[in-house]
Amino acid sequence: MKFDLLATIALASVMGVDAAQEPFYSNPKPYSQDFTDNYNFLKYTTWMGPWSQRRGVGINRDPPKGCKVDQVAMMHRHAERYPASYAAKNMDKALQKFDDVKGKLKDDLEFLNYWVPFVHADDGIIGQESMYGAYSGWLDAYHRGALYRTRYGHLWDGQSTVPMFTSGFERVAQTARKFGQGFFGFNYTDVVALNIYPETAEQGANTLTAVCNIPNNATACEVPTEDAKTEWPEDPPWVYPEFEQAAKRLNKANKGLNLTAEDIPQLMSIAPFELNVRGSSPWVGAFTAEEWAAFEYLHSAFYYCYAGPEAPSSLALGSNYLNATRVLFNQGPQDSMPMIWSFAHDTDITPVVTLLGFANDEKFDPTKVSYGSRWDVTDIVPEGAHLVFERLVCEDDEDDELASLASEYPSSFNASSVNATYATNATYPGASNPNKGKNENIYVRIVLNEAVVPLPACNSGPGKSCKLSDFSEFVDGAIKDVDFVKTCNVSDSAPHTMTMFWDYNTTNSLDYNSYPIPYQAGLLDSDGQPSDDKSDY
Ligand SMILES: *[C@@H]1O[C@H](CO)[C@@H](O)[C@H](O)[C@H]1NC(C)=O
Ligand SMILES: *[C@@H]1O[C@H](CO)[C@@H](O)[C@H](O)[C@H]1NC(C)=O
Ligand SMILES: *[C@@H]1O[C@H](CO)[C@@H](O)[C@H](O)[C@H]1NC(C)=O
Ligand SMILES: *[C@@H]1O[C@H](CO)[C@@H](O)[C@H](O)[C@H]1NC(C)=O
Ligand SMILES: *[C@@H]1O[C@H](CO)[C@@H](O)[C@H](O)[C@H]1NC(C)=O
Ligand SMILES: *[C@@H]1O[C@H](CO)[C@@H](O)[C@H](O)[C@H]1NC(C)=O
Ligand SMILES: *[C@@H]1O[C@H](CO)[C@@H](O)[C@H](O)[C@H]1NC(C)=O
Ligand SMILES: *[C@@H]1O[C@H](CO)[C@@H](O)[C@H](O)[C@H]1NC(C)=O
Ligand SMILES: *[C@@H]1O[C@H](CO)[C@@H](O)[C@H](O)[C@H]1NC(C)=O
Repeated sequence: MKFDLLATIALASVMGVDAAQEPFYSNPKPYSQDFTDNYNFLKYTTWMGPWSQRRGVGINRDPPKGCKVDQVAMMHRHAERYPASYAAKNMDKALQKFDDVKGKLKDDLEFLNYWVPFVHADDGIIGQESMYGAYSGWLDAYHRGALYRTRYGHLWDGQSTVPMFTSGFERVAQTARKFGQGFFGFNYTDVVALNIYPETAEQGANTLTAVCNIPNNATACEVPTEDAKTEWPEDPPWVYPEFEQAAKRLNKANKGLNLTAEDIPQLMSIAPFELNVRGSSPWVGAFTAEEWAAFEYLHSAFYYCYAGPEAPSSLALGSNYLNATRVLFNQGPQDSMPMIWSFAHDTDITPVVTLLGFANDEKFDPTKVSYGSRWDVTDIVPEGAHLVFERLVCEDDEDDELASLASEYPSSFNASSVNATYATNATYPGASNPNKGKNENIYVRIVLNEAVVPLPACNSGPGKSCKLSDFSEFVDGAIKDVDFVKTCNVSDSAPHTMTMFWDYNTTNSLDYNSYPIPYQAGLLDSDGQPSDDKSDY
């Protein structure tokens, strides 16, 4: 489109001055003048709501010209889901305030005279992914797998067994399975070897979901309540004036209603989850844009303090995965694996994001709503969030058009110059040589929620990527003072290193549930956790 336009202008100019000045009709406009994403509700749904693309910096998602992806590592959060039991309980509690006024509610709350909740705290489906609707979790995971087959399918040789890695939480394992089915289609059962790691402290460092029960230090976050200073509270501890206003507004319009500022974020939480489950929610219209911005900020602050840059456990928690990814990329696709698909939780991704540094914001102020922060929880870990590391091999000759086309459209061009080879004898490199295999034409690129992220510390490579050797140095620097074992009090008997990407199972015995999933059997405990080990996967 852009180039047609320039050709038209050039043509007009040879035809004479008048023609060149004549505006030509173009519908739609070649470049929209509207940026409706400045108010797209999906940017206000926090970690609770449907996946949406991260707002990027304008760099092409496809490999830069002359580069091909020859290895990819991904950490994917489970997809859209029902609220956990504690959250559903809190919503139920906030809704009780309407018991006496139901049938008489007006204005923004009129819908509530008829609205029926989509889940209750004691329902069996609590905490599970949603299966139907526009923002269904299963749909999201399958869709991502199918899309990634077109993007990364050249990394599978069409026959080798591919291990996939997931934590044992039911909804996380389901996301991995749906993604795998989307990616491998008919071949899922034959080639995927799903590896499932229980979410227990006994796994030590050898897990995607390390446990780090250390006291929180939220002093720097000016946490207002004593309990919330050391413990992870169920809800963010701050109360903003925006919520007082909302309560006042709704109480004033509805005689007999007595909402408090604390009720407001609970009620607002219903909307993102209802989108996950039903695909739309009348609760969206019950609050103003400013109130939604405050809600989003509240949860950004929550993650900033308890699972991000201000959490004392973050660096330790993120170090294992970042280090392992660096080691895999230095080994390269032939000596490790071309694709490393991993599945876990939002709070396993935020520590890695913290270590990478691009979303940290030293001026972040959790005590009052501010705008323009780099730390925006909805851009970082919506449901279905995924952090992707691409290893790029770049040609010296940057004008190699065909190579570039082949990497952008792997299904239309023969991209066999990227050789998917699968070593069956890959070994854990050990302490001696994490940077084995340095190569000057190899770069690393980070993509979060489909937006390319230039690393602040290193982005001078093609497409704002970072040379692998520099990336390795960056990782060394980021984790050099980090001691996961000591910080997180890992017991002597638990693994102290992350070896799971080198000593995995190659059987397909866990590719499917072998018994009814807990939702059908009603086996969840009050935290939405499977209540017995057998139901873990
Ligand atoms: C993959 O599936 C196709 C059918 O779609 C089949 O022909 C092929 O043999 C399968 N490959 C493997 C490795 O199972
Ligand atoms: C590997 O397979 C064994 C035997 O089936 C099983 O006990 C173990 O849980 C599996 N490990 C993973 C990580 O899936
Ligand atoms: C908690 O954080 C504050 C502010 O960063 C710091 O001054 C204090 O030493 C920390 N306390 C502990 C116990 O780490
Ligand atoms: C509303 O709730 C507040 C706090 O729960 C209470 O102090 C106040 O008396 C209540 N007002 C009415 C009209 O019920
Ligand atoms: C792609 O190229 C390779 C090497 O030149 C060749 O062996 C292979 O048959 C080609 N594949 C297709 C689908 O044309
Ligand atoms: C891929 O294999 C072909 C044919 O065996 C070889 O010419 C080419 O150098 C290999 N490419 C890479 C990137 O290893
Ligand atoms: C795997 O075995 C092959 C053949 O023996 C060898 O060439 C290769 O270096 C081995 N790879 C690793 C990572 O040990
Ligand atoms: C990084 O990984 C290597 C494995 O090659 C391991 O030896 C080393 O201890 C790890 N470093 C940290 C800080 O975890
Ligand atoms: C560390 O864990 C051990 C048990 O493995 C426990 O006895 C000890 O109290 C813990 N230390 C801290 C500081 O939490």
